[in-house]
Order: sequence, then structure tokens, then C-alpha cells
Amino acid sequence: MTKQFPEGFLWGASTAAHQVEGNNTKSDFWLMENVEGSMFKEPSGSAVDHYRLYKEDIAQMAKMGLNGYRFSIEWARIEPEEGHFDAVEIEHYRNVLLTCRQWNITPIVTMHHFSSPQWLIREGGWESAGTPARFARYCAHVIRELGDLIPYVCTINEANISLGIKKIMKRHQAQAAAPGAQVGMNTDRMAQMQKHYDKLSKAFGSPALGVQAFLAPRSENGLQIIFKAHMEARTAIRQACPQTKVGITLSLYDYQSVAGGEAQAAQALQEEFLQFLPYLQNDDFFGLQNYTRAVYGADGILPVPEGAEKTQMGNEYYPEGLEAVVRYVWKSLEIPIIITENGIATDDDTRRVAYIDRALQGVHDCIAEGIPVKGYMHWSLMDNFEWQLGFSRRFGLIAVERTTQERTIKPSGLHLGSLAKKNAI
Ligand code: BGC
Repeated sequence: MTKQFPEGFLWGASTAAHQVEGNNTKSDFWLMENVEGSMFKEPSGSAVDHYRLYKEDIAQMAKMGLNGYRFSIEWARIEPEEGHFDAVEIEHYRNVLLTCRQWNITPIVTMHHFSSPQWLIREGGWESAGTPARFARYCAHVIRELGDLIPYVCTINEANISLGIKKIMKRHQAQAAAPGAQVGMNTDRMAQMQKHYDKLSKAFGSPALGVQAFLAPRSENGLQIIFKAHMEARTAIRQACPQTKVGITLSLYDYQSVAGGEAQAAQALQEEFLQFLPYLQNDDFFGLQNYTRAVYGADGILPVPEGAEKTQMGNEYYPEGLEAVVRYVWKSLEIPIIITENGIATDDDTRRVAYIDRALQGVHDCIAEGIPVKGYMHWSLMDNFEWQLGFSRRFGLIAVERTTQERTIKPSGLHLGSLAKKNAI
């Protein structure tokens, strides 16, 4: 039976600037990728050249049938040195936004997706008390210039990701056969990272580089700084452009338990989601990101069950997690939800088609019960730079041959587009 989605539902895909644009030379990641002894399997280089090819890529999305595009603006391009705003880069993103408008694609813009300007790290990065004000100043500048073209802003991508990274590192140290990281972490290399701090610090010109980059374990205080940055940015964005809707995105699992693991699962939910509710109550929407489930036993998270299908990330293939996450988010935070990321890394695209179908069944059920889910942005539009794991993990609806930068739409891309065209599953 055909299941219709509400009129205006956003069907789209997500990217992040550093993962697709290429040559993001002023960012912290660029330095970390290129330093001797780097934790990265390979540098991002020209990535998938989206900085140059964005017009073709957005036109392609429209032809596929999609009507939403979540992408990020790169802080290191807009403000390459502290207080120096680059007008040429503002024009670049204005053109990206105008291209979306031309193709009737609604943009959802992320202001910070993991990568930061190198100067921010020199100033103490995401552990510095001055960072919320610096971030708000950057957001205010962008929104003053471009806000009329931006209906939705996500301030910070996966503001809670450091908690997941911390747990993964702990499991890695204990050599537990636990599920892999959700995001591309090169855990073996990270464990040896200490040795390279001096080289990194020298490259940054900062005395004690450690947890100051965004994608790293961090202190309790550092976590507060991130949410403070969200709130200060929200105020600044609203002042600059009251019509723009503001939210944040969090990385969330479907927390499940077997007998004896109930308290552990409840604690994970508290740590990774519920504790942040006070910061999110005044947001206009919530950006929900889910990839799999996390099952807890009495001693903590359990390995992926024997025989269960795994993705290239080592995670369990579990599209039903999305529905469960939508439900618990709505239960404690009654604001509209946009699914800003959901997907799998695989070379078997038939598994991606099935994943999309199963995930969207759950989303439809939630909407039918009255939960205001406004859109579904699949991760990712294209195969891209999966952080420390380089280009080895393929999440895309579109394949990219990096030697020629030639794009080929995968059957899953055509499939999601066909659902979008009929606004139904
Ligand atoms: C991040 C993306 C990443 C994806 C897949 C999310 O945690 O926002 O940047 O590529 O997961 O690992």
C-alpha cells in the first residue's frame, strides 16, 4: 500500500564541507591530515571537488527528484584569520544557495561540521572559554550576509560526538570486541596519537594541542563550551535574521538492553541526549542523526550479535533504529524534527536501497501518529572523505571516480529520488 508523506516534506541528502569540497587548507583537519605520523589514512586533498562542481551536483539532485540539501559552510574559508572575513567566500556560498533556489531545493545549512579554522585551535579551540563568542561572531556575519537565503540553520553538527568517541577509545583500550565508531575514527592510530602531539602542536604553533580539535574526547568543561556556543550562536542568528529557523544536530543511537543492561542503556540515553535538553528547549527544530542501535548488557555495550549484518564501519545494519530515536526525541523535546543524517557505508548498493525503505517505514509511522518530522536527509549525497578513514568508506547515493571526479548516480540515489517525486513510499 502506498504511504503518502505530508505536503512539503523534504527529501534530500547531506554533505559536510570538509568531506566534499576539497582544498580546505585553512582548517585544522588539513594540518592534522598532512602532519608526519598523521592519524589519517590519507589526506582530503581535492576531496570530491564539490567546491568547484557544486552547480552540477545540485542540478543532479534536482533531476533525481530531491528537494532538500543539507550542507555546511566552512568557517576556515569565511574567517581564515581571526576577525578577517573573506567576502569572496561569502559570494561562493551565496552562489551555492542561489543554485539551490534555482532548482527549488530547500537548503539546510550547518555552520560547524567538525572542522575549525587553524587559528581557533591556536586560541585553545573547543576547550577555550572564548570560543562560544568567536563562533557566534562568525555565525552572525554569515547570517547577516546570507540569512535571507537560509531557511534552516544547524549551528553545530553532532555536538555530543565526543562522548561517543570517548567510549569507543575506552573500549578500544580494553580491546573489547565492541562495535566500531559511528564516525570515521582510525582507532589504532588515535591510541598512539600522544606521540605525535608535539609535531601537531608545532604545526599549529600552539603549545599544547590535545583535545582542542572538535572531533576528539574532551573535558566536561569542553562539552559545556560547545552547548554554550550553540546558544550564543542561536541568539546571534535570530538577531541577524529572525525568519531563519535554528537547531543543532546530535548523534543518537537506538539505546536497547538485554536483561540486566537496562540501567546502562538508560544511563547512555541520559549522557548522550537527555542531559542536553535544557540547551535545546528554545530551538526551532531538532536535527536527528542516527545510524544504528547500541545494545547494553550488565557490563556495558554488547558486540554486534553473531551473524548480524555489518556495514563497512563495523556497525550493525539496523535501519529500524531511526524510528525508535524519533520516538524518544519527540517524547522529551516537542519541537519539529528534521532527520539530518541516516545511512550506511557499503559497496552493496542493494543494501542501501533496503535500508532507506526500512528507515522510511518507521518515519512514516511516526508522522502518521502526529510526530512532526519535516524531512529526511540521507547521509550522504556522494561518496566522500570519511575523516580518519579517508575515502575507503562509501556512504553515497552517488559514486565518484576521484581520478576524473566523474559522478554516477547509484540505484539507491534513483530510488530515493523516485520516492521524493511521488512524496510517498
Ligand atoms: C558525521 C559525518 C560522517 C558520518 C558517517 C556522522 O557522524 O556527521 O560527518 O561522515 O557520521 O560516519
